[in-house]
Amino acid sequence: MAAAAPPPLLACFALAVLAAAVWPSLGAGASLLDDPAGLLRRAKEPAFADWMVAVRRRIHENPELGYEEFETSELVRRELDAMGIPYRHPFAVTGVVATIGTGGPPFVALRADMDALPMQESVEWEHKSKVPGKMHGCGHDANVAMLLGSAKILQEHHDELKGTVVLVFQPAEEGGGGAQKMIEAGALENVDAIFGVHVADSVPIGVLASRPGPIMAGSGCFEAVISGKGGHAALPHHTIDPILAASNVIVSLQQLISREADPLDSQVVTIGKFQGGGAFNVIPDSVTIGGTFRAFLKESFNQLKQRIEQVIVSQASVQRCNATVDFLTNRIPFFPPTINSPELHSFFVNMAGEMVGSKNVRDRQPLMGAEDFAFYAEVIPSTYYYFVGMYNKTRGPQASHHSTYFTVNEDALPYGAAAQAALAAHYLLEHEQPAATPDKAKAHEEL
Ligand SMILES: *[C@@H]1O[C@H](CO)[C@@H](O)[C@H](O)[C@H]1NC(C)=O
Ligand SMILES: *[C@@H]1O[C@H](CO)[C@@H](O)[C@H](O)[C@H]1NC(C)=O
Ligand SMILES: [Zn+2]
Ligand SMILES: [Zn+2]
Repeated sequence: MAAAAPPPLLACFALAVLAAAVWPSLGAGASLLDDPAGLLRRAKEPAFADWMVAVRRRIHENPELGYEEFETSELVRRELDAMGIPYRHPFAVTGVVATIGTGGPPFVALRADMDALPMQESVEWEHKSKVPGKMHGCGHDANVAMLLGSAKILQEHHDELKGTVVLVFQPAEEGGGGAQKMIEAGALENVDAIFGVHVADSVPIGVLASRPGPIMAGSGCFEAVISGKGGHAALPHHTIDPILAASNVIVSLQQLISREADPLDSQVVTIGKFQGGGAFNVIPDSVTIGGTFRAFLKESFNQLKQRIEQVIVSQASVQRCNATVDFLTNRIPFFPPTINSPELHSFFVNMAGEMVGSKNVRDRQPLMGAEDFAFYAEVIPSTYYYFVGMYNKTRGPQASHHSTYFTVNEDALPYGAAAQAALAAHYLLEHEQPAATPDKAKAHEEL
């Protein structure tokens, strides 16, 4: 992907390198907020860590799908109330936006996603999902618990903050585009930068991992109906066979990647749905296929979209079938790629090095998965997304995200809580604005 990265990012990167290594020099070390390792020790204290674990388990037992996170949202608000942190609600049905600090600029946001997945948990344990067919199979229960942990740390030092931390608890990350709805609802006005963290199955425990530039792909879905003329399987010449046409369509779509995409510019087209027919001896009238496509660059994404439609319609016509293609954007928006700000990457690497030691700060390869965190980049100048490791080999194998056997290693929670708190506090320190402006109160209102 690096070869295909857009030039402006490369240009910024050079500046970011120059600006690096500022971590310990600010703030004269008076506050725990300037001491990432100290914040991690705080979050690892048994009472603190146990509280996050208990919150995570309560959410895990009661998983709610996108835009239905009513009880999760209520739990978040109860915990915020208990900490004395003000918030606004609802945004995008169940979203909660809380603030800690001066109430004035700069504003830095921390984000957690709250939704579960429509799948049945397979692992039997004390806090297994109590809702049949629903499960926190991606770890958003952990993401919420970590953000509440960050809230607790920041609230303990709220009078030392040099601006305002905005805590964003959003609905519907898994395909619903909850981030986009939060933005439309005005939840992120005036925010200068946002950090998102996700637990990661394949990253070792104690490790924080990310990269500058593209980290998660952009994604879209499509569905096509290929229509022919059904009839007796023994009399194919009296029919127009949509199964054969759909089969050729699927094979042709593979060539978009193998022949039309730059081999150094990662892209995916997958057909995950093929429905049609039901009898050995009947040619059906039509077949429905559906799939997803992924790319990192906007041009590649748009090119794929255009070519998917052309290939489906044209290839179907070779076998005399008609085809219609629907990109389903009413239900599932296109997700842009998630691009990390190179400046914030240097900032993150410095913080993480202070917190877990530089050998535990790792580069992560870009992933073809998509993240609706990407929507925040459309309105917030600087965005950064990273992973907190969960894999501990002495605990045995770790099932992957979206597996019915997925588990969260709760030892990871203090790392995410402390890292987010440290990033937010230090961001405010670095971007502190001279003397309070007369508009301070107003800025708070607008937020
Ligand atoms: C395809 O569409 C054309 C124009 O509407 C129509 O005449 C034709 O019958 C259709 N063919 C099939 C196989 O549905
Ligand atoms: C990994 O798991 C073992 C066994 O549970 C535990 O003793 C150890 O502290 C864990 N490592 C980390 C970094 O959490
Ligand atoms: Zn997921
Ligand atoms: Zn997720």
